[in-house]
Order: sequence, then C-alpha cells, then structure tokens
Amino acid sequence: MSEPSIVVEGVSKRFRLYHERNQSLKVALLRGRRAVVDEFWALRDVSFEVPQGSSFGLIGENGSGKSTLLKCMARILRPETGSISVVGKVSALLELGAGFHPELSGRENVFLNGAILGLPQKELQRKFDEIVAFAGLEQFIDQPVKNYSSGMYVRLGFSVAINVDPDVLLVDEVLAVGDEVFQRKCNEKFADLKSRGKTIVLVSHAMTSVHNICDRVAWLDHGQVKMVDAARKVVDEYVGAVQVDRTVDGEDGGERWGSGEARVETVELLDANGSSVSRIRTGEAATIRLHYRFHEPVDKPVFAVTIQTLDGTHVSGPTTRDADQVPDRLLGAGYVDLTFDRMMLLPGTFDINVSIQDYSCLHPYDFRHKVLRFDVEPGEPHESFGLVALGGRWARTEDTGTEETT
Ligand SMILES: Nc1ncnc2c1ncn2[C@@H]1O[C@H](COP(=O)(O)OP(=O)(O)O)[C@@H](O)[C@H]1O
Ligand SMILES: [Mg+2]
Repeated sequence: MSEPSIVVEGVSKRFRLYHERNQSLKVALLRGRRAVVDEFWALRDVSFEVPQGSSFGLIGENGSGKSTLLKCMARILRPETGSISVVGKVSALLELGAGFHPELSGRENVFLNGAILGLPQKELQRKFDEIVAFAGLEQFIDQPVKNYSSGMYVRLGFSVAINVDPDVLLVDEVLAVGDEVFQRKCNEKFADLKSRGKTIVLVSHAMTSVHNICDRVAWLDHGQVKMVDAARKVVDEYVGAVQVDRTVDGEDGGERWGSGEARVETVELLDANGSSVSRIRTGEAATIRLHYRFHEPVDKPVFAVTIQTLDGTHVSGPTTRDADQVPDRLLGAGYVDLTFDRMMLLPGTFDINVSIQDYSCLHPYDFRHKVLRFDVEPGEPHESFGLVALGGRWARTEDTGTEETT
C-alpha cells in the first residue's frame, strides 16, 4: 500500500450553542455564564487513514458529523483536539453555493472561486471554457448566480473544484442535486482522478453511488467512527442497521467469510442458450452456476443461493438441502447449477449471494455476499408492480340477475 493521502488522528470538534438569548439579564447573571453556553461535540476522537489514489466514502445519519469532518479536512474548521494531515493540493465542493457570491456573474464567480482554491489567473483563463462547458452553463455564464437553480450552482462549483486539478478532492452531498447526465459526468471525472492517483473523499446518502465509487468507507454515528472498512462491507452493515425492521437472517453482511475448506470460485448467470449474461428477461429460462472447489473432503455440504434487491430484501433463498440433493461427501472441483425454467423476477436489479455450508446450515465454509449483480428486463408475464410474478390469474364473475354490463 502507498502512503496515506489523509491521516485523521483523534479528531474531536466542539460547537458551542448559545441558548436562551431572550432571557433577562438578571437571570443570566444569576445563573452564570456556563448555563448559557451548551457544548456539543460534533466529532469525538475520530481516526482513520485514506490511502492515496483511493475513493473514500463518509456515510452516516443526518447530523452524524460528516460535513463537519469534511470541513476540518478542508481546514475551514479547526478541531479542538487531534490532527488531520493531508498530502498535496486540496480542492473541495462543500455546501451548496459555498464560495459563490450571489450578485456576481457565473464568470466572475469562476475566477473568484478558482482563486480561493488556489488556481492562478492564467491557468483559470486557459481552463475557463472547459469549466463552463463541463457545467453546461455556456448560455448562463454572464448571469448573476443568484438566478441559478441549485443544480446549476452545483455544476459550476464541481466543475471549478475538479479543474483546479487537486491531489485531494472533498465532495459533500451536494452532487445529488445534479441531474442524471451530470452525475454520470461526475462519476467519469472521479474515475479519471482516481486513475491519475488522486484521492477523493465523498459524503453521500446514495448507497449505490458509495458502493460503486468508493473503495473504503467510514461510517460516522453521533460523531464517532462506527466502522471503517471496504465499501461493500460498510454499506451492507449500514443498510442493515438503518433498516432495523427487516431481519436478514442474522447474517452480518460483508464480502466473504467462512472457514475455507470449500470455496465458490466463480458464479455465472446463464441464459436459455447457456451463454453467460448479466441480464435476463422475466419468464425466460435462467441458470445460476456455482463453480466450486473443495480443498479437503467435506461431508454433506449444502449449496445455497439467495437473490436480493439492492436495498437488501431477500427475494428467494433456495438450497440443495431443501431440494434434498445433498451428496454424502465432496472433494475437488465442479459446478452446481440452479436452473429456473421460467425466471419470475420482475424487471429490476438484483444481487446474488452464494454459500457452501455444513448440513446444519450453521457453519459456512464459504459465504460470498453480492457475488453477482444482474438486471431483469421486461418479458412475459408483464406486471408493473412488485418484485416477482406469482402467476396469479384474474377472473370475473357477475352476480346473476344483474343486467348492466360495461
Ligand atoms: N456551526 C455549527 N454550530 C453548531 N452546531 C453545528 C454547527 N455545524 C454543525 N453543527 C451540529 O453538528 C452536528 C453534525 O453536523 P454535520 O457535520 O452537518 O452532520 P452531517 O453532515 O453528518 O449531517 C449536528 O448536530 C449539527 O447540528
Ligand atoms: Mg452534511
């Protein structure tokens, strides 16, 4: 691993809240100063490292301290304790419109903002057209930004922030304001920055984006780090914890675990022709193929597949044990097919988890979470709502003696 790009060490940030302003002076004096000022720790002893060239996500509920931490990284706020060291040039897109002057035009703000972010005027002049084009604001660039929509603000802010050519880019949730086309452009920029060894710290509520963009993620909870790990793991845990009303058979989410005697090497989705695909149609044949390898003999191993939606709802979870197809003992390599003559999932995106477990299904030899993602396209039957077609048939019967038929 390369040197960390950002090191956050024991950072705590306190805000002082001044209450009861309209209290009488007498009461205030009697109570003393301390009663009037409330201390609030927005960050408590936060530590982690962000590897250089990685995309790092910050997630957590509202008020958990994500923006505060980002501002500390950008040196806009100073923590009470601890330190943050950042290697290289930092550029940030924080709150909506931060760094913009409403009365000035888009053009003037580009220069103002660029200067604040440390880009020399000459450089700005050279990059100006590119900045405006990326934001898609050619027609509006000479209007005062107070007339801009929030999406236009964000596009311009982001465009300036990335064109500063930072070593470290800090981005708060604001990007969610942009439209889909712009989001895609941003994702391409992230990929481009990453491929050039730059570091990105992204605050987001969109778990799919975090999952797709970030390598590692820190989960903040009431100002403290609850978890720092690979993006998938943290997102899974977070989604699981946020949806407390949903029990996901007690499994803890994550990438891969198990004792390792047997492993699922790869998983394929095959269409009716036996071709490996990533999308299938409702109502068509499909096969999930698990290529396995047993490194040592295992008695009565059970293969299991679960299909879940992106938000973690388990749609189905067939096992070879339920199908009464458990071999007495397995060793070596092969594959197991789970074939659906008609795949009845309705259009959407789904994840496949697979496992090899002992006969009690309590001990996993290998458990692979979200090993394969696939899309279901509209087919037959066509139904507009729900996750699966259950094959229900409609029939209508009229009461006898009713004359009117419409
Ligand atoms: N300038 C401030 N003064 C007082 N409290 C603040 C200030 N900024 C943020 N806070 C408080 O600190 C906590 C963390 O806020 P923030 O970092 O914005 O959370 P997040 O971005 O995760 O939603 C919140 O309870 C918020 O009300
Ligand atoms: Mg915030």
